Parts: sequence; C-alpha cells; structure tokens
Amino acid sequence: MNIQGKTALVTGANRGLGTAYAKALLAAGARKVYAGARDPSTVTLPGVVPVKLDVTSPEDVAAAAALCNDVDIVVNNAGIAMIGSTLFDEESEKALRAQLDTNMWGILNVSRAFAPVLSANGGGALVNMLSVLSWLSRPHTLTYSISKAAAWALTNGLRNELRDQGTLVVGVHAGLIDTDMVKNLTGPKSSAEDIAQRVIEGLQNGDEEVLADGVSQQVKASFALSPSAYLRDQRA
Ligand SMILES: NC(=O)c1ccc[n+]([C@@H]2O[C@H](COP(=O)([O-])OP(=O)(O)OC[C@H]3O[C@@H](n4cnc5c(N)ncnc54)[C@H](OP(=O)(O)O)[C@@H]3O)[C@@H](O)[C@H]2O)c1
Repeated sequence: MNIQGKTALVTGANRGLGTAYAKALLAAGARKVYAGARDPSTVTLPGVVPVKLDVTSPEDVAAAAALCNDVDIVVNNAGIAMIGSTLFDEESEKALRAQLDTNMWGILNVSRAFAPVLSANGGGALVNMLSVLSWLSRPHTLTYSISKAAAWALTNGLRNELRDQGTLVVGVHAGLIDTDMVKNLTGPKSSAEDIAQRVIEGLQNGDEEVLADGVSQQVKASFALSPSAYLRDQRA
C-alpha cells in the first residue's frame, strides 16, 4: 500500500515503539497520524494529533473511532508485559488476565470499532504488534507469551474476517526491542526505529506478516525443523 497521503492511528504512541511507528509513518508521507495514549498529555512527538485512547476502555475506543473517522491505517501497538515464573499462583492469574485484557482484547476492541472506518475509507490496513513470544514460551514470559499467542490467533482471524472489505491485516513479530518494556533484560535488542521501518516497508509491499528482526526470522524458520524452537527446552 502507498502510505503517502494516508491517515493513521497508532495506539500506545506516547513512548517506545509506538512513538517510532508514528514518526516512521510521518516520514513515509502519512498526511495525519493520530497518537493514541492513555494520557494524551504524554504525547511529545511533534506533528501528530494526540487522542485519548485506553484500548481496554469501551468508551475511549468508541470515542476514538468516531473522532478518527478518516483513518486508513490502524497500528495496534499498545501492550504490557508482566514477568512471572509459574502458571499456578494467584499473581500469575492476575498477570495473565491483565495481559489478555490489553494485548488481546485491546486489539479486538480497537479492530472491531475501526473495521467500519477502514471499510468506508477503502479498506486500508490493520497492523498488529505481536512478538517472537507469540510462538515461544520462556519461563519468565509464560503469561505474556499466552497473551501474544492469543493476539497472533486473533490476527489470523481478523485477516479472514476483513478480507472481503479489502483490509490488509499485518502481523508483526520481533524479539527484544530497546524500549522501557525490556529495560531490565539483557541481550541483543533492535532499535524501535529499525523495527518501525521494517513494518513501513512491509506495509508498502502489501505483506501480511513482517518478521522484523533476525530472531523472529530464525524462530519462524525453525517451524520446518524437528524439534522446532518452541518444542525445545527454553529454560536456559
Ligand atoms: N520491547 C520489546 O522487546 C518488544 C518485543 C516484541 C513486541 N513488543 C510489543 O511492542 C508493543 C510496544 O511495546 P514497547 O516495547 O514500546 O513497550 P513500552 O515502552 O512499555 O510501551 C508500551 C506502550 O503501550 C501503552 N499501553 C499500555 N497499556 C495500554 C492501554 N491499556 N491502552 C493504551 N495504551 C496502553 C503504554 O502507555 P502508557 O505510557 O500509558 O503506559 C505505552 O505507550 C507492545 O505490544 C509489546 O508487547 C515489544
């Protein structure tokens, strides 16, 4: 798709990857970028239109869809990560519910509200920020991985659901990205700017899946191996 002259909405655009997405969309020629944020006063990027949008709030989502009715591209970027070490305690249950609420229901809420807007504007694109952890479960990412796996399945469902209205549904996978979310984790991290740029290129090519870094490419390639990465012991 040609991004030149298009209007986009990015959720969670006040920091991290969301800000990088908003910046990259503007650089690619987007006419207008709405920067969704739970607190719009925290949006600092020049040239965007701040919009109050907590993706778990039905009121916020409905108001944003009414306000941003000129949108061609929706980037479901907002997400949370909570670290846990087992599935069988009360804390993990709370963490799982919270992450499903934001990382899965948030995408569904926004997609459902914006599908008619995208349709009315010619189809457009829906970009969902997933993870390499949509495919892998590591001990400390157990509950986050479940939420990102659910978001992956949701993305595949949305692709079919929105095919007839001509909406390109893009799933984005990546390993560690250098943002607040993983500031306490060590290991090689991509820059948010590089990931956003890969996604822009994917959108321009009409790709339905963007493997935005080497880690996601390697793990996806391992699906054809035995054992695949997700069947290997991930405790190391
Ligand atoms: N960083 C990584 O290594 C990595 C790797 C793969 C995928 N991802 C995914 O990339 C996306 C962006 O993450 P990030 O790395 O930029 O993390 P981040 O720096 O922690 O930023 C998260 C963003 O999501 C927003 N957010 C959280 N809950 C929200 C809600 N209910 N409604 C609206 N906005 C909400 C935050 O807003 P507030 O400022 O209000 O909290 C913030 O803008 C997430 O979906 C994440 O899961 C990250």
